[in-house]
Amino acid sequence: MDLISRNLEKYVESYSDSEPDLLKKINKYTHSNVHSPRMLSGHIQGRVLSFLSRIINPNLILEIGTYTGYSALCLAEGLSSSGKIITIDKDVSLEKKVQSFFNESKKNKQIEYLIGDAIKIIPSLEYEYDLVFIDADKKNYLNYFEMVLPKLRANGIIIVDNVLWSGKVVDIEKLKNDKLTRIMHNFNEIIKKDKRISKIILPIRDGITLIKKNG
Ligand SMILES: C[S@@+](CC[C@H](N)C(=O)[O-])C[C@H]1O[C@@H](n2cnc3c(N)ncnc32)[C@H](O)[C@@H]1O
Repeated sequence: MDLISRNLEKYVESYSDSEPDLLKKINKYTHSNVHSPRMLSGHIQGRVLSFLSRIINPNLILEIGTYTGYSALCLAEGLSSSGKIITIDKDVSLEKKVQSFFNESKKNKQIEYLIGDAIKIIPSLEYEYDLVFIDADKKNYLNYFEMVLPKLRANGIIIVDNVLWSGKVVDIEKLKNDKLTRIMHNFNEIIKKDKRISKIILPIRDGITLIKKNG
């Protein structure tokens, strides 16, 4: 289920900042050549990621779930001049193409692209993050959240994708046996009760939660 109609989405796209050329190219390539293109953030969510990053002007961003590099490049738009984004994905088959997209970006030198299992890689990264984007395997969302929260600076931001799971989370009583709906609903329940953070769900695309670590 789409949360807004395609017509309304087109209107929002036409009255928002346009999609930069490299991102248009990645979007097109992904839809023609890569499995599960719905996973790509796309024009509007991408502009939201870019906008938030430009407000924060982070020195260090962690992204969990690179896929074809679209969201990493959106987030990189807001980096401080000496800042860096670390983006992790376990899908080796996409590595060469994604690296070639990164090479085309002016932010190339500020992107560290790591291939492997994020659950294993994150504990080895000794950094303090300003901004984290969680967009990988749903079953590990809570693990990722707990792993990154201690490494997030006070008032730092975590953005979490797919929290409305195509709107299915509202039908949780009927969909109790749907594993991924249960996982996302459970994640939302736990985040809601967590007093260490402030949180708001934005009904953009598949739903994104903005989390701020309380100072
Ligand atoms: C939804 S896609 C990311 C989309 C991308 N952030 C965007 O907006 O264009 C999820 C990605 O997470 C990766 N992934 C899944 N489990 C992972 C894990 N344990 N470690 C690292 N990457 C993982 C998948 O290979 C996939 O490319």
